[in-house]
Amino acid sequence: MFVVIACDWNEIMAKVLITSGPTREYLDPVRYLSNASSGRMGRALAEVFLEHGHQVFIVSGPVEIEYPNGADVVPVITTEEMLQECQRRFEQCDGLIGAAAPCDYRPMTFSPEKLRKSGHTLAVELVETPDILATLATRKGSRWIVGFALETHDVHNRAMEKLRKKQCDLIVINRPAAIGAQTTEVEIADANGVILGNWTGSKEAIARRLYEIVAQRFLRRG
Ligand code: C5P
Repeated sequence: MFVVIACDWNEIMAKVLITSGPTREYLDPVRYLSNASSGRMGRALAEVFLEHGHQVFIVSGPVEIEYPNGADVVPVITTEEMLQECQRRFEQCDGLIGAAAPCDYRPMTFSPEKLRKSGHTLAVELVETPDILATLATRKGSRWIVGFALETHDVHNRAMEKLRKKQCDLIVINRPAAIGAQTTEVEIADANGVILGNWTGSKEAIARRLYEIVAQRFLRRG
């Protein structure tokens, strides 16, 4: 059987790099810092780009879900590994979508031996991990970048700060309730901070909306 995947005639075939899922930062061989990101938003985005005939690379932290067969998936554990694998692929891609929820901190030291209870409090010192989008943005060139901003307070100002720092062309603003959920509520803003709209629905429906905006702005021929 032959499966012919054709790109829309008026769209440029793009190579898209998607970060997805959480990362983990280990304290000892069994304990780690992480979050409940499921990878569902990354999967939904991968599906819609593949449906339209684009090439998809996913760099994903540990997730239970399965990514579509057509995507080239690289599994990673830590934020540093996610950055390294993204750096390997970013140059050959036309666009980047940061749907991952990477850990912003890692324990300063890793204990190769499992930490044992001592009857006392245990202080863990954390250091910041690299920001993947901001690091890749320094070599952005003509590529487009879509970031996500998950905020609890001062939502718009903080999202705009991220948009500038990470040189995003679009930013998807969502809330903590989106983490690990089937549905989400988002606002999408452009590089000037103009809110293009707000949408509520399944992550698949939101991914299609986001795809339409990306396609219209960055994938149209001529
Ligand atoms: O976690 P935060 O709200 O700052 O994430 C904003 C955007 O930056 C998201 O697109 C996320 O994937 C990305 N990010 C990243 N590297 C990090 C933290 C977040 O690329 N270390």
